[in-house]
Amino acid sequence: MRKKITIAGAGQTGATLAHWLALRGDVDVVLFDIVDGMPQGKALDLLEAMPIIGSDAHIVGTNDWEATKDSDIVVITSGLPRKPGMSRDDLLKVNAGIVADVTRNAVAQSPNSILILLTNPLDAMCHVALQESGFPASRVFGQAGILDTARFRAFLAMELNVSVAEVNAYVLGGHGDDMVPLIGSTNVGGIPISKLIPAERLGQIVDRARKGGGEIVALLKTGSAFYAPSAAIAQMIDAVLNDRKRILPCSVYTGDNEGGYDVNNLYLGLPARLGATGVEKVVHIDLTEEENAALQKSAASVQELVTVLKDNDLLH
Ligand code: NAI
Ligand code: 2OP
Repeated sequence: MRKKITIAGAGQTGATLAHWLALRGDVDVVLFDIVDGMPQGKALDLLEAMPIIGSDAHIVGTNDWEATKDSDIVVITSGLPRKPGMSRDDLLKVNAGIVADVTRNAVAQSPNSILILLTNPLDAMCHVALQESGFPASRVFGQAGILDTARFRAFLAMELNVSVAEVNAYVLGGHGDDMVPLIGSTNVGGIPISKLIPAERLGQIVDRARKGGGEIVALLKTGSAFYAPSAAIAQMIDAVLNDRKRILPCSVYTGDNEGGYDVNNLYLGLPARLGATGVEKVVHIDLTEEENAALQKSAASVQELVTVLKDNDLLH
C-alpha cells in the first residue's frame, strides 16, 4: 500500500521536499499551507511534471486539514523567518505557537503518524510537537544533524578532492552555532581526518560548517537554505518507509539519559537508528573530553530556549 506523507508548510523547504519525494514515485504527498491557492498551485505544477519524469507520485495541495487524514508521516516546516526588530526569543514564541497549532491539527487527522520537525529553532520546536501530540518520543523527531553533517562532509570532500561518499563524519548537538563536529571519528576512506588536513585549516572548515546556514542566508538575501535541508528530510523518510535501520544524526529526545550522553529530557542532535517505527534507539558514540564538553555546552543552549518556552507557558 502506498504511504501518505503530509508536508505542513509549502514554502521553500516544504515544496522542495515534495519535489524530492515525487521523484521516488511510490508515495502520496499532501502539501498543506495556510496561504490560499499556493500549495494547490505548487502541487499541480509538480503533478504535471510526473509524466515527463515518469513518476506515479500523487501530489495534492490543500488548505484543509481533512485532506491530510491518515498520513503515515507528517513533516512540519511551517513557521516564520525572523523579521526586522524581532528577537530570537520573539521568533521562538511565534514559531512555537505555529508548531503547536499545526501539530494539534495534524495529529487529530493522523493519530498514528510519525512527526518530523524542521521549523527553527529546531530542537525547541521538537519539544512543542512532543507535548502537543502526546505521541511517544520515538515518533517525534527533528532534522538538523544530517544537514549539518552534509555541509561538513561537502567541505571536506572539496578540500581533499575526493568523493563525498568517502567522507565519514558526524555533527551532533543542537542546531545552532555551537553544534559539535566529531573530529575524532571523522575519516576519509578510513584515514583519520587529522592525518589529512592540518589542524588550523580543519578549524576553518569546522567553522564554515557551523555557520553553513548563515552563509546561505547571506548569499540568498531573502530566505534560507532549502535544497539540502529538504534532501535531509527525504533521507529520514526513506529510512522510515523502508525500515532501513540507518544511523543518522537527528534531533531526538534523550529522556532518562538515552544514548548515555549525560543529557536528560532534552531534544538534541544525536545519532539515532531510524526504522519503520521512527527512532528505535539513540546510539552511543564515545566522545573525547573536548567533544563531550562541546556537547554539554550545546545542550545548555537548547535548554535555555526550552526554559524561555516554559517561562511563557508554551511548554509545561
Ligand atoms: P518558508 O517561509 O519558505 O515556508 C514556511 C511556510 O510555512 C510558509 O509557506 C507559510 O505560509 C507556512 N506557514 C506559516 N504558518 C503556518 C501555519 N500555521 N500552518 C501551515 N503553514 C504555515 O520557510 P522555509 O525556508 O521553508 O523554512 C521553514 C522553516 O524551516 C523555518 O523555520 C526555517 O528556519 C526552518 N529550517 C530549518 C532547517 C533545519 O535544518 N532544521 C533548515 C532549513 C530551514
Ligand atoms: C540552515 O541551517 C536555516 O537552519 C537553517 O540552513
